[in-house]
Formats: sequence, structure tokens, C-alpha cells
Amino acid sequence: MSKKKLNILFVASEVVPFAKTGGLADVAGALPKAIKELGHNIIVVMPRYYKIDVSKLEKLPEPLGVPMGVMGEFWAGVYKTTLLNSSVPIYFIDYEEYFGRSGLYEDDNGNGYVDNANRFIFLSKASLQLCKMLHFIPDIVHANDWHTASLPLLLKTRYLHDFAFAKSVLTIHNLQHQGNFFKGVVDVMEVGWNYFNAHDLESNDEVNLLKGGIARADAVTTVSKKYAHEIQTQEFGFGLEQHMQAHSHKIYGILNGVDYNEWSPRTDKLIAKNFDDKDMSGKLVCKRDIQKHFGLELRDDVAVIGFVGRFAEQKGIRMIAEVIHSLLDMDVQIVILGTGEKWAEGFFSEIAQNRPNFALHVGYSDSLAHKIEAGSDMFLMPSLFEPCGLNQIYSLAYGTLPIVRATGGLDDTIHNYDEFHQKGNGFKFYDATNDALYFTIKWAVEVYYSQKEAFENMQKRAMQEHFGWDDAAKSYEDIYLNILGK
Ligand code: ADP
Ligand code: GLC
Repeated sequence: MSKKKLNILFVASEVVPFAKTGGLADVAGALPKAIKELGHNIIVVMPRYYKIDVSKLEKLPEPLGVPMGVMGEFWAGVYKTTLLNSSVPIYFIDYEEYFGRSGLYEDDNGNGYVDNANRFIFLSKASLQLCKMLHFIPDIVHANDWHTASLPLLLKTRYLHDFAFAKSVLTIHNLQHQGNFFKGVVDVMEVGWNYFNAHDLESNDEVNLLKGGIARADAVTTVSKKYAHEIQTQEFGFGLEQHMQAHSHKIYGILNGVDYNEWSPRTDKLIAKNFDDKDMSGKLVCKRDIQKHFGLELRDDVAVIGFVGRFAEQKGIRMIAEVIHSLLDMDVQIVILGTGEKWAEGFFSEIAQNRPNFALHVGYSDSLAHKIEAGSDMFLMPSLFEPCGLNQIYSLAYGTLPIVRATGGLDDTIHNYDEFHQKGNGFKFYDATNDALYFTIKWAVEVYYSQKEAFENMQKRAMQEHFGWDDAAKSYEDIYLNILGK
């Protein structure tokens, strides 16, 4: 019997290459393509942020009406194109008053927009209204993070009669951000006040969008197996651990994949020279390229350690800041690309002025991210928690050995160097302490200098690993079919 072709609505607040602040965008730009490859009909919906150039997009002729409860009905424009190198349609909800701003979630000073609840409830409702307009009846509605977490509940209430057979999946990319807002938004959601209770939307007398989504989704997924367990503990549950435990029967961990069209040293157009595990000579060219770019001493023989990521406590930047001087006393070059918390931007900028073997770029730069992945010998990711983490997986592809803390997806993907058996693909520590971080980096640097062959073999092993989206897509498909009872 042939497999049933499913209609899937996939909604996310950011999607590569249109808008990105972190890994969610990478996932939303790649996973739908892999699901389509399995033979399903999938459409993606995201906001049309101000910076998305609409000149090459198709504009739908009809405006889209979006009911916003007590606020009345709002009318949005809709643009359309396809995901990069694919035929997966992506629709952009164009509503100037909500999305015509420079930031995705916050202003230039890092303050979250005060109307974020309405903005993303609007996106969620707009995605369902769009389905009605397109006569696209979803079997599965796949939501991501708090921004679109109202979808499972909307399907069971306000949209029950429109999409009676649709099932929902909510993927948690980061439990820290839950979408807590003034409870009055219940009247904007139009889900009914009976859902404002401690088992659904309510949390400290506020609406918690993620909590409501977890309660009502037919399946909840997280982006690694380890994180699926961690979020049920007090240490990683961000106050929702009991809620997670109550729903543990429907929580699954599926590791993210890599879009190798974007992240492969063989074909990457953003790096100085391509290379692969058979011929790594191009990697040295990439190393010189970042040394030149950042004004570091041009040395082939020095250990270069890279970091790319948001300056957020999650990423362990405070620990890095606390040990940076001791690290820089070693014979290493450290290159950091990131933006976020102001204290970190200021702190690292000052170090960059005083230490010749330290380089920094404050800001967001896709091309520099690729160059650092390619040209570094090691990649630092000492996260306090990490639902999946993509950079360490990209690093493996570029033969840049990750130095990570054993948490979430970092623990699932990185295996410690085992000198005796000559195994492993990186360096891993367990305690979130400065000492553990410092001594692990020191160990990695020692291996780099004194066990050259072992280091190179480990790089090759890392480059031969494969984290395809095809496997992940099959796991999502299993869940879709399971909740549909097929
Ligand atoms: P998170 O989603 O928690 O930020 P991930 O490791 O899953 O962490 O994904 C981060 C993604 O964002 C990667 O693709 C990384 O290259 C990218 N990224 C993060 N900070 C920057 C930056 N300053 N410039 C360019 N890319 C960045
Ligand atoms: C989140 C997590 C990160 C994960 C990404 C994509 O931003 O912090 O660990 O890789 O989402 O799922």
C-alpha cells in the first residue's frame, strides 16, 4: 500500500535565508525540504520582516483577514516564494504595524517588543487563515517555539470546526524562552478563559504560550534526545519541569541535521579555499585567511580556537570571559564572532585591544561564521545548556574539533578524545566551572601540539561523520503518522 501523502503546515518566526537570529532559522529552512523529499505536501509560513526584500517575491492578489479577538480583524498582505533550491512554498505574512521593524523580537537596545504576544498570535492565526484561503487542509500543523505555540490550542478551540482532523506537533528549540505575557491576550487568542488554568496557559497569573502549546500539542519534540530528558529536570526545566513530566509520554528527541548545501567545506563559496578529508591543504589557506582578516600574526603552526554564537548566558560566555586571560597566555589564537549581551560585547572589545592573539567581531556575519568554521583548528562551545547546537556539528564537517560542555545536543554529538583507543571527535567536559573549561582547552591544545597525527586523524573522522536531515525527517514523519493513527 502506498504511503499517505500528508498536508503539513510548518510555521516559524525565522527561516534561512530570509531572516535569522539563531539555529531555529537553519532548521526551518532545511527540515521542510527533507520532509518534502519524503513525498509530502508541506508549506512554510513566516512573517515578512521589514528587511525582507519583496521585489522578487510573488504577491498574492487577495488580502488576508486575521481575526484578533477583542482587537477586531486585521488585514495582511501575503507574499510567496520557495525555500532555497527547492519547490517548498514559503508564505510571508506582511503586516507593517507588527513586522515592519528592524528587529525580529527586540529593538536595537535589546528590549523585547511590548506587543510580542499580539505579533506572534497574529502570525499563528494568519497561518491558519492562509490555509483556509488556499484551501489547504493540513493533516499536521507543525509549530516551533513559543512564537507559534498558540497553534495547538487554536486548533482545538477557535479553529476546531475549520480543521477538525488536524493534529499538531510543537518543537521546542529552547525552553528558556516561553512567551510569558499579560493574561488579557486570552481575549486576542479567542481560546476561552477555561484554558487559563495551571495545566494549560496559566503560569504565575500570566499567559505562558509555550506551556499552553505543550499541554495541547499531540506531540512535543525537542532537538536532541538528551535535551528531551533534561527539560524534565529542575536544572533545565526553567520552571516547566513538572509540566514536562506530566506530558513526558508525548515528548520525543530528534537531533537536528545539517544542510550540507550550505555547510560543506567541499562546496562552501564563502571560504578562501575548499577542502575535504582527502586533501586538507585548503584548510590552511582558510586559517591564513582569518588570520589576515582579523590582523592576527600569520602563523600556520599556532592553534586557532574559534567561537561563533549569541552572547547569551546559555552559551557559557561568562565562563569564557573569566578564563580568557589564562587562555591567551597559552600559545593560541582565539577568534570570537558574536553579538548579544552588552557587557560581553564591551568586555571582549577591551580584550581585543590589549591582547594580540585575540580577535573579535561584534555583530552578525554569515560569511565570517563560515570562515571561522573553516579556518579554526578547534571550536569552543561551553554552553550551560544546549537543546541541540548546530555550530559544533558544522565544525565537525569542517574538521574543526569541538570543545564542548556535555549538555543537550552537545553531549549527543561530541565524543571525547580517547587517546588509548584513538577514538572520539572532540573534547568534552562536564562541570560548568572555569577550571573544567580551562583544563579541557589546555588538554585540547596539548593534543594539537604534541599528538599531531592523532589530531589530524580525529579531524578526518569528524569530517566523515554525517548528520543528514533525511534521517531527522523520517523521525518526524513517524511521529506525524503516529499521532494521525496511521
Ligand atoms: P542558537 O540557535 O542557540 O543560537 P545554534 O548553534 O543552534 O545556536 O545555531 C546558531 C546559528 O546561528 C548557527 O548557524 C551560527 O552560525 C549562527 N550564528 C550565531 N551567531 C552568529 C553571528 N554573530 N554571526 C553569524 N552567524 C551566527
Ligand atoms: C535553539 C537552541 C539550539 C538549537 C537551535 C535549533 O536556538 O538554542 O541549541 O540548535 O534552537 O534547533
